[in-house]
Amino acid sequence: MTHQILKGKKGIIFGALDEKSIAWKVALKAREEGAIFTLTNAPIALRMGEINKLAELCDAKVIPADATSIEDLEKLFQESMDVLGGKLDFVLHSIGMSPNVRKGKSYGDLNYDWFLKTLDISALSFHKVMQTAEKADAMNEWGSILALSYIAAQRNFPDYSDMAQAKAVLESIARSYGYRFGKSKNVRVNTISQSPTKTTAGTGVGGFDVFFDYAEKMSPLGNASAEDCANYVVSLFSDYTRMVTMQNLMHDGGFSSSGISEDLVAQLTK
Ligand SMILES: NC(=O)c1ccc[n+]([C@@H]2O[C@H](COP(=O)([O-])OP(=O)(O)OC[C@H]3O[C@@H](n4cnc5c(N)ncnc54)[C@H](O)[C@@H]3O)[C@@H](O)[C@H]2O)c1
Repeated sequence: MTHQILKGKKGIIFGALDEKSIAWKVALKAREEGAIFTLTNAPIALRMGEINKLAELCDAKVIPADATSIEDLEKLFQESMDVLGGKLDFVLHSIGMSPNVRKGKSYGDLNYDWFLKTLDISALSFHKVMQTAEKADAMNEWGSILALSYIAAQRNFPDYSDMAQAKAVLESIARSYGYRFGKSKNVRVNTISQSPTKTTAGTGVGGFDVFFDYAEKMSPLGNASAEDCANYVVSLFSDYTRMVTMQNLMHDGGFSSSGISEDLVAQLTK
């Protein structure tokens, strides 16, 4: 069922790697709701070629950009405006990567060059995206910019390692840039704190299956899927949410407000 709530809106979607990616589901949903957009990912991720299938389904151009490179981002924003025929109404930052997590480094034995890479890719890139957009005057009034976060920014999840710090910085950048972009252009900036989701980035974290099941049992509504997340993202790009800004929005089936659940009590008393 489509309501065309994004009809006439233009944007950029970062981070669709394969059909499990949250950004992939967002692209399909945004298209269904009437949006036009460009798709982007790091050149190395594009080599897999999967994104071309999505580009075809969404009638979207793919523009390579490493989200840590200002030069790439400047080209991306300029080319997107050229291809789409004007300024943008939405941007999705759906990017995360930690070399320390990927290479199984323990939290007491972090490689600090990699830690800086984690922060650059997973958090600073969000600032770079917005600073580039602002300098290029690429956003329309009342536009919406979103990034994806995780509750490890507020609570400890040991295997999430230095990504926890990256998410805390990401959420803080949303507040600081949200103020700035709100004052100058009425552009809103938020993060969505999403349930554990079975994607490449998600399942790369140690113990993922266990905390996926734990979160499922803790949350009265169960875990939010990537499709549920796409629906939420689309609502936040629409004009129905124009006054929501500088927020970290929990999209987790109730996990963040739960202490214990009957399901877990039953399991632990077995
Ligand atoms: N999967 C989960 O459990 C979960 C939960 C909460 C939040 N998130 C967040 O959702 C977002 C999307 O992740 P996903 O779960 O869809 O996994 P994913 O692996 O499909 O997406 C991560 C994306 O980041 C891209 N990326 C990495 N380095 C980049 C760079 N330098 N420049 C540009 N792009 C780069 C990857 O190519 C990939 O497309 C991430 O921010 C992630 O932390 C995921």
